[in-house]
Amino acid sequence: MSGRGRTSRGKSGAGEKGSSGRSYRGHAGLTQTPRNMRRRKASSNRWIERQLNDPYVQETHKRGLRSRAAIKLEQIEDRYPFLQPHMRVVDLGCAPGGWLQVVSERIKLNKGHGALVGIDLLETDPIGGAQILVGDITEPEMLDSVFTAIDGKADAVLSDMAAATTGHRPTDHLRTMALLEIALDFAVQILTPGGTFLAKAFRGGAEKPLMDLLHKHFDKVRHIKPPASRQESVETYLLATGFKALDAKQDKSPDQT
Ligand SMILES: C[S@@+](CC[C@H](N)C(=O)[O-])C[C@H]1O[C@@H](n2cnc3c(N)ncnc32)[C@H](O)[C@@H]1O
Repeated sequence: MSGRGRTSRGKSGAGEKGSSGRSYRGHAGLTQTPRNMRRRKASSNRWIERQLNDPYVQETHKRGLRSRAAIKLEQIEDRYPFLQPHMRVVDLGCAPGGWLQVVSERIKLNKGHGALVGIDLLETDPIGGAQILVGDITEPEMLDSVFTAIDGKADAVLSDMAAATTGHRPTDHLRTMALLEIALDFAVQILTPGGTFLAKAFRGGAEKPLMDLLHKHFDKVRHIKPPASRQESVETYLLATGFKALDAKQDKSPDQT
């Protein structure tokens, strides 16, 4: 769907797809071999078999979570708690909404406290009390819309964004890291002192300038590989806590530091 800056009004049934666009629905039971496997490509077969046998996929279905990624966020947050009731949180790359579900529960959004704003290129099913925008965060006006929706201040900025894969690993890697840099740039403009930045990265992909920026703006920076993140995947997460309030004279933009 296009429609920049719109609040998402996804139909029920949406939000059942992974970032790859494949449906998470209908995978019942463990160690099954799907029908028609012979007609599929080997890589596709591998993906389906892995889904069928993945305990986190099973847990996702059982608990009504919209994504397997939701479990990764829970694991990170259980180990290094940073969400508290009443917080104001931004989720960049929020579809299908698994992280929104976790954050919403942990900040007790349903009690009418705190604030939660998500944005994604794709439609996301509504989450009670959250504002969800549809748009591309690489377009400055979209980030302006997020800024406005959260009233210009957030206690946590999360990004699980991954660029659409091209099949060329170095390109995919660079694109996802570029999204991380935009997310960080946004975070330092909007975070309140003590705030948290959590973002998906690729192992070995956080170059020195990016790490220097994180260390400059935050008290503590950790690399985290939650158990639900597949070992064979280069995916990792950067958790930066204790956002340092900058001197008014200092430039907050990482691009200009
Ligand atoms: C791994 S998924 C996020 C899953 C989500 N955390 C959840 O638990 O449901 C990554 C998302 O990043 C989004 N994304 C990638 N590039 C984006 C961009 N430039 N602007 C907004 N969203 C983007 C994709 O559309 C995709 O839905």
